[in-house]
Amino acid sequence: MPTVLALETSCDESAAALVCGRTVLAHALISQVEEHARWGGVVPEIASRRHVEALPLLIEQVLERGGLTIADLDAVAATVTPGLAGALLVASVTGRTLARLHGKPFVGVHHLEAHLCSAQLDCDPPQAPYLVVLVSGGHTELVRVDPGGRLTRLGRSHDDAAGEAFDKVARLLGLGYPGGPAIAAAAAKGDAQRFALPKGQVSRPEGGFYPYDFSFSGLKTAMLRLVRTLEQQGGPLPIADLAASFERVVAEVLVERSCRCASDQGLDTLVLVGGVAANLRLRQLLEAACRARGLQWRAAPLAYCTDNAAMVGVAACHWLERGCASPVDLGIAARWPLERADALYGATACF
Ligand code: KG4
Ligand code: ZN
Repeated sequence: MPTVLALETSCDESAAALVCGRTVLAHALISQVEEHARWGGVVPEIASRRHVEALPLLIEQVLERGGLTIADLDAVAATVTPGLAGALLVASVTGRTLARLHGKPFVGVHHLEAHLCSAQLDCDPPQAPYLVVLVSGGHTELVRVDPGGRLTRLGRSHDDAAGEAFDKVARLLGLGYPGGPAIAAAAAKGDAQRFALPKGQVSRPEGGFYPYDFSFSGLKTAMLRLVRTLEQQGGPLPIADLAASFERVVAEVLVERSCRCASDQGLDTLVLVGGVAANLRLRQLLEAACRARGLQWRAAPLAYCTDNAAMVGVAACHWLERGCASPVDLGIAARWPLERADALYGATACF
């Protein structure tokens, strides 16, 4: 199995890892969230600068912890899409430079494919075919994974991603950034049934609704209206109840639509990945729903739900084992469809 140095700088976490197949030999991460919290969200310019400062240190750390030198590696990998362009450039240029200098193959990894691979870091990884519920700060997607790794997107959000909704509602409630952990902490003491909130649906032009798609903007607006009404009534805002009700509705929507999609597709396994997969209420609700329907469920280990380089390494190993790598002049892209991720490791890129 190949041993890979993997780098991740697509948003606000700088990370490096040494991975051999599905085994993490070492991983290290420096989060910028405290710095971005002052601005209420990620400031791209600051993110790029911090990645430049952090990445060399992280690479040294993982090599030292893993007891390896770059000469011992089979390849160098980095996330190249999607994400903040300036931030992606840092890992991409660093990874390609190291690969070129040391005569190693380079693997430019699709960030969402890396999130999908994070489930492989579980001690009991899912076996394809299965349905992945990918919920992060930038994406909310239902993806069918077939044997051989073929990916088919079956559902998506038409506006905010689930994590983005957590971040925006947390800001509305004055809970800070990132919103997911802040809402979860506030919700722990709240009454999740106190407020009824809408489970946004996406209309089909021909009538009815897309059964596996999501819309969180209406929920966000409903929260805003609710907060304004409560403010007009006077007294302190019931922050815990508001957070708990919001968290419940997001979790219910994700669980209901993904279970329905899995059943309709004849899939018996649901897999939860991405930053929002760290949400304990969502994990509990999905587990209960799967148990009730006789489905299996898996999730990325908590340590690998939010952005990290270990999942990038697993994705890279997957392609290296098939004899594929990327051209060393592969660029970066702020957006790139997951279904076309294989173009990053295309036939011309095989070594
Ligand atoms: O996967 P990720 O680290 O970055 C992206 O690829 O976007 O996801 C970050 C998102 C943020 O929106 C954050 O608020 C959310 O994941 N998140 C959570 C939790 N931890 C992080 N959302 C809900 N509950 C959590 N415990
Ligand atoms: Zn991510």
